[in-house]
Amino acid sequence: MVNLVKASFLALSVFLVACAAPSKAPQSLYDEIGGAPTIEAITENFINEISFNETIYRYFEKTNITRFREKFIEHLCVNTGGPCTYTGDTMLRVHQGQNINETDFNLTVDLLVNAMEKAGLTYPQQNRVLKELAPMRKEMLYK
Ligand code: HEM
Repeated sequence: MVNLVKASFLALSVFLVACAAPSKAPQSLYDEIGGAPTIEAITENFINEISFNETIYRYFEKTNITRFREKFIEHLCVNTGGPCTYTGDTMLRVHQGQNINETDFNLTVDLLVNAMEKAGLTYPQQNRVLKELAPMRKEMLYK
């Protein structure tokens, strides 16, 4: 009887220890690419790319770049699974009235790809970021 109690206790202990063992959560894309410093580098590179591109810079002529930098960092952080809160406006609201066409949209995506490349993201990582942003495309085009 005592042995049975001991055995049950042992089994219960093993069960509890197994349950308490930290389960390995899958790493977010945010963590995989290097977290905040990488998100900031992508944003900085993106702003640079925009400033050197006459076609796209035209859209940003009146933009407060300090605000854009802050909101774009938050947005990219959230969309890669990072621990941030996006405090900017909706994609529809921000891009409304700009009448962005597909050519300029694709050109902007090219600039973002250059920015990610320069920040050291691999090709598959770049694609994962773009995949997160793709559904927002319809909120930006021809508005
Ligand atoms: C790749 C997809 C895009 C994403 C994820 C994106 C994201 C953002 C974000 C987060 C902001 C700041 C929002 C805020 O201030 O509250 C912003 C602002 C802006 N975006 Fe985009 N954007 C994208 C594509 C584009 C494209 C294609 C254009 C034009 C060719 C564009 C032009 C602008 C401009 C001009 C602003 C500043 C608006 C202002 O001055 O108030 N964006 N965008």
